[in-house]
Amino acid sequence: MEPDNAFAIVLEDVWKIYRIGKTEYPALRGLTLMVRRGEMLSVMGPSGSGKSTLLHIAGTLDRPTRGRVILEGIDISGLDDSRLSEIRNRKIGFVFQAYNLINRLSALENVSLPLAVRGVPLPERRAAALEALRLVGLKDAARKRPLELSGGEQQRVAIARGLVGRPRILLADEPTGNLDSKNAMIIIDILRNINKTLGTTLVIVTHNPEVAERSDRIVRLRDGRVESEVTLHA
Ligand SMILES: Nc1ncnc2c1ncn2[C@@H]1O[C@H](COP(=O)(O)OP(=O)(O)OP(=O)(O)O)[C@@H](O)[C@H]1O
Ligand SMILES: [Mg+2]
Repeated sequence: MEPDNAFAIVLEDVWKIYRIGKTEYPALRGLTLMVRRGEMLSVMGPSGSGKSTLLHIAGTLDRPTRGRVILEGIDISGLDDSRLSEIRNRKIGFVFQAYNLINRLSALENVSLPLAVRGVPLPERRAAALEALRLVGLKDAARKRPLELSGGEQQRVAIARGLVGRPRILLADEPTGNLDSKNAMIIIDILRNINKTLGTTLVIVTHNPEVAERSDRIVRLRDGRVESEVTLHA
């Protein structure tokens, strides 16, 4: 267990084979990847290469068909569903390409939601949500609803929601996929800043080379495996 502790995420010979009827769709085929604590990693690769599947498995939203998954030194492979969702709630935040905000709730209420689910009392929830909105530069927009915000602002609210529980690991699947390049850079600078100031381990799936270049390392997938990687900042 000792050497694993330097790593936020270890995926060891991970296979994911989806089955629909009798047909098998292998999404990951023996993928091995280690992400250091505090690292900012970009995952690139062609459509269908397994990027989203990797993120789902690293985020415990899905289980591998075979292989080991170790999160901050905890081997989660053998854990039951309730332990798994406990680890997910405590350690992991998610950001998706579609912001998935609830339109009838304010930004503040959207950001508070994960804490409400956990039963955190209202005053604490509000304070944490305001702090998360401050981190993404949207404290003044706390009372606005999603449709009163731009796309880039909505994604910042979604990031604040991902962060509000102070996860050790933030997983983002094409977080700039719906944004123009100016807003993409704003989002990526916010993520970079969160990574640096809070030490949050960050894994970002992206098709955008400009986005990837801001990270510490870029891993490229092909056919469900790591094809190549390049380190930009050690
Ligand atoms: N629920 C599922 N059932 C069957 N096959 C699936 C399922 N989810 C993904 N796949 C298949 O697994 C492979 C990897 O999919 P994945 O979504 O991880 O790719 P991706 O790299 O994220 O692609 P994109 O860049 O288009 O988002 C694809 O061939 C896909 O069709
Ligand atoms: Mg995908």
